[in-house]
Amino acid sequence: MKTAILGTGYVGLTTGVCLAYLGHEVTCVDTEEEKILGLQRGECPIYEPWLQELLELSRPRLRFTTRCEEAVPGAAVVIIAVGTPPRADGGPDLNYVRQAAEAVGANLEGEFTVVVNKSTVPIGSGNWVGALVREAYAARRGRKPPNCFAVASNPEFLREGSALYDTLYPDRVVVGADETRALEVLYSLYRPILEQSFTPPTFLPRPEGLGAVPLIATDLASAELIKYAANAFLALKISFINEIAQLAEKVGADITQVAKGIGLDARIGTRFLQAGIGWGGSCFGKDTAALIATAREYNLAMPIVAAAREVNYRQRERVVEKLLAELKILKGRTIALFGLAFKPNTDDLRDAPALDIARRLVERGAAVRAHDPVALARARREFPDLGIVYCDTAQEAAAEADAVVLVTEWRDYRSLDWDEIARAMRTPLVLDGRHFLDRARLEQAGLRCVGV
Ligand code: UGA
Repeated sequence: MKTAILGTGYVGLTTGVCLAYLGHEVTCVDTEEEKILGLQRGECPIYEPWLQELLELSRPRLRFTTRCEEAVPGAAVVIIAVGTPPRADGGPDLNYVRQAAEAVGANLEGEFTVVVNKSTVPIGSGNWVGALVREAYAARRGRKPPNCFAVASNPEFLREGSALYDTLYPDRVVVGADETRALEVLYSLYRPILEQSFTPPTFLPRPEGLGAVPLIATDLASAELIKYAANAFLALKISFINEIAQLAEKVGADITQVAKGIGLDARIGTRFLQAGIGWGGSCFGKDTAALIATAREYNLAMPIVAAAREVNYRQRERVVEKLLAELKILKGRTIALFGLAFKPNTDDLRDAPALDIARRLVERGAAVRAHDPVALARARREFPDLGIVYCDTAQEAAAEADAVVLVTEWRDYRSLDWDEIARAMRTPLVLDGRHFLDRARLEQAGLRCVGV
């Protein structure tokens, strides 16, 4: 099926590569020329496990261009997957979506095209995108469009760091449209995933026992709300366990055991109950803020979602409070941060807790040294002025440090030479922000390990 994808960020590129792997003819469009030139040479602009490999396999059916007119005419499906970065007031900036929708309208050609909103847009945007497409079509051709397109919402549930796995083996696929024709086209597009009829790439085997993937077909508004409700629920699950963790610390309970003990109740589930520094990234913060803003337009308060946000951002300050409690004085101290990316297996630094914590520590007069196995180059490029000394190895970051804070649970950090790190440090203190390190191993190295 001829498919155009507008936007080659995490969502657009992953979706494009996967759809091409599944046999569709995909053209990815981005306005950033450098990025497109790189992709044409087969270079992946982001770090995402296996993306480079799948890109190689899919290349015969994958094209990259900066020109919408090379992608949209004649496409059965056009997927809008451009960024919706936060504005200063917290709401999403919809300018890229507007430009994409207008470009689609100006270039629509052919019998019937489904215009899919995959970008996370405020509820009601489906109708807005439809209006923009119609207006741009009319402006280009001097007449209203015939019944040649329909707008659908197809929210994305992939996690960075496991984006390909989540796309090929999703828990469900959600499509929302007010026209049955559009739902039928999307069913065909996703058929190999829904029926799990494709041959898996050797490096991403199908999970054992995975059968047909459920398809939730809804109206537009429901699909849009599903996206926000899912992210808000996951975010509040994390904040809930972090709130319980505070009490656990007071009463001397082990939060990891508590999380396991409640999570094995199938109604609750064990995932997203890992206590620690809390969430970051481009989604949970933005989407919970947008949900609250949308509710406000209808005179509704969302106290539970608001509380999840408050608890989450307090966790970052708690790292500083913990260090203060342990070290008494932060001025003149050196703190090493292990991990900069907002989560492991990505180089994404958007709303990364590490950068926020670093800022707070620098403000209080501490020197901050930081390491990350993958995000270091991006951090040096994008955040040169935070007062952080970026170090090529964890050992280097820990040199003369008064504390190491484990911010991102990269697997490599578990197996570091902790004896060497202990010798390099000035004060043998480790703050494990993710309940991730082998505490016995650290203590064996002479380090004192505390949690958040
Ligand atoms: C999240 C959702 O999980 C995806 O379903 C959704 O598609 C995506 O947002 C999006 O809207 O685009 P993502 O932000 O990539 O995905 O990564 P997550 O694995 O959800 O992690 C988010 C944050 O929560 C990370 O900072 C992680 O460290 C933190 N986290 C996660 C915890 O603190 N505890 C947990 O138990 C799980």
